Amino acid sequence: MQIIKAKDYSEMSRRAAQIISAQILMKPDCVLGLATGSTPVGAYKQLAEWYSQGELDFSAVTTINLDEYKGLSRDNDQSYYYFMNEHLFSKVNIDKNRTFLPDGTEADSETACRKYNEIIHATGGADLQLLGIGHNGHIGFNEPGDCFEKETHCVTLSERTIQANTRFFASEKDVPRQAYTMGIQTILSARKILLAASGEDKADAVKAAFYGPVTPRVPASILQFHPDVVLVADEAALSKCPD
Ligand code: PGA
Repeated sequence: MQIIKAKDYSEMSRRAAQIISAQILMKPDCVLGLATGSTPVGAYKQLAEWYSQGELDFSAVTTINLDEYKGLSRDNDQSYYYFMNEHLFSKVNIDKNRTFLPDGTEADSETACRKYNEIIHATGGADLQLLGIGHNGHIGFNEPGDCFEKETHCVTLSERTIQANTRFFASEKDVPRQAYTMGIQTILSARKILLAASGEDKADAVKAAFYGPVTPRVPASILQFHPDVVLVADEAALSKCPD
């Protein structure tokens, strides 16, 4: 694992964006695995800026996102499709037909998951997978549990995740209780993984993920088995890790 220590959120965002843009420059038709949440917002902003300066071309890029709330449609401003469109897709020259997320409007979980797995397989999988990390060590919506789920599945969100995500909704009761998420095996099959973390509130999760035992109780700990992981984190998020 490579660790890139950034001073703060803004430097972390720039360093994460550099790695993503290097991937696009090296392989213009790459498959990017993307994430939502507060963490990647700065990196997406930086990528959009480099695109507007003529430094990046997204025209041949394909994206597969980690997850989507079950029950939310693309035009719901809390859906992850809406987020991706707002922060990245609408700001760059990506072909929207090549941007994929699980279909939150598919009520039948089995169908939604099967279809998303088929899409992921058809893309050939991610060249680079961007991840955030939850306070409980989740990646995507793979919540702490008794086993690592392999492919796309429907999850019931943990209380901690519901609380963490309430900030994006009018109230806690508006947070969807279920989501479709890429599985751990799919995440691990990405050729390269970039996990971004910022803030002291992530310090325990980062330490447990990278310096603790590998266990489904801390889903991100499985990344210790991946041969090409870059952790880009600010000083606060790394504050509990050994030097
Ligand atoms: P955050 O979420 O970027 O909003 O902190 C990360 C996550 O829960 O995976």
